[in-house]
Amino acid sequence: MFEGLYPKQYMHLAETISAYAVNIHMIDRLKPALQAIAVEHVKSNVQVVQYPKIGMALIEAIEDILGDKATTEFVDAWREAYKFVANILIEMEQELYKSQELINS
Ligand code: HEM
Repeated sequence: MFEGLYPKQYMHLAETISAYAVNIHMIDRLKPALQAIAVEHVKSNVQVVQYPKIGMALIEAIEDILGDKATTEFVDAWREAYKFVANILIEMEQELYKSQELINS
């Protein structure tokens, strides 16, 4: 699980997801942090197709760690939460890729 991710990245991912969980009703508070992540992603050439793989790995990790405590409702809520934050990042990254194309054209 999480092949291809470095330990520092597990921590960043976990920290971001938990910050997101705490601020879920105030998503605007996370926008500057998400914009900074989007910039790092674009520097690493992260692509939309990679998001579902990372999302699956996150859900598997939650299920592995919590075992029976991971109820369907709980896991589904995390699935939704991941999709929501992933969509924000994807949109920000697409804007950044577009502006890169404009600069390079
Ligand atoms: C909702 C989903 C995701 C979240 C919350 C997330 C979060 C983060 C965070 C917090 C960082 C560190 C940024 C920094 O150093 O300032 C990061 C970097 C990075 N992420 Fe993601 N990420 C997500 C999805 C992905 C996906 C789908 C990939 C594709 C494999 C990916 C690959 C990377 C890479 C390559 C880096 C740069 C690592 C480095 O050079 O240190 N991430 N991400």
